[in-house]
Amino acid sequence: MADLTITNHPLIQHKLSILRSVDTNATVFRHVVNELGMLLCYEATRDLPVRPIDVDTPLMKTKGQIMREHIALIPILRAGLGMVEGIWTLIPNAHVFHIGFYRNEETLQPVEYYNKLPHQHPFNTAFILDPMLATGGSAIAAITIVKKWGARRIKFLGLIGAPEGIHALREAHPDIDIHLAAVDDRLNERGYILPGLGDAGDRQFGTDF
Ligand code: PRP
Ligand code: URA
Repeated sequence: MADLTITNHPLIQHKLSILRSVDTNATVFRHVVNELGMLLCYEATRDLPVRPIDVDTPLMKTKGQIMREHIALIPILRAGLGMVEGIWTLIPNAHVFHIGFYRNEETLQPVEYYNKLPHQHPFNTAFILDPMLATGGSAIAAITIVKKWGARRIKFLGLIGAPEGIHALREAHPDIDIHLAAVDDRLNERGYILPGLGDAGDRQFGTDF
């Protein structure tokens, strides 16, 4: 079974509390999602392979290390978009491919509406980004697509997970590392995470009216 990492760092908990608050406006919300993406990325890249290089410092030659692989960042539209920029700041040579799902409000099943993965040239390492892991349906479907594409090292990076979604994702894809900032209590009858932060897409894009 792959790792489930909950990064319980004070900075992350502080920023997550800002996101949860109903008083946080869309501008601040986007900014904080971006920062949290960056902080989670630090942890999620801990085991990525590096290769040695020679470096000339101003004083002498030495050995350094650089990341060995290029990384595909795959945000699930819409809400995953907000996590891209921060991670891209840390990994500027990453490439970004988009997958779009929305949840059918009655069945809670994910509906795919966009897939911009190129047919060829799969990346070995892919980070799937989505702030919310609720029933797990969207993440499971996205990972299935990315596995078929050919990526071998896939990680899911999210902000808040419900126990139901974590369980479902680990059952469906036991080989995928999951990185979250928090595990919340449960889902409500409409599939929203409690206590959660509401609708992550609506709150980022100001469409929560
Ligand atoms: C939200 C969220 C996830 C999904 C999680 O997307 O961003 O993609 O729900 O729920 P699940 O684990 O039950 O599949 P939503 O369908 O609200 O679309 P949006 O991002 O466009 O608002
Ligand atoms: N999607 C969200 O944006 N929020 C939830 O609580 C559940 C799914």
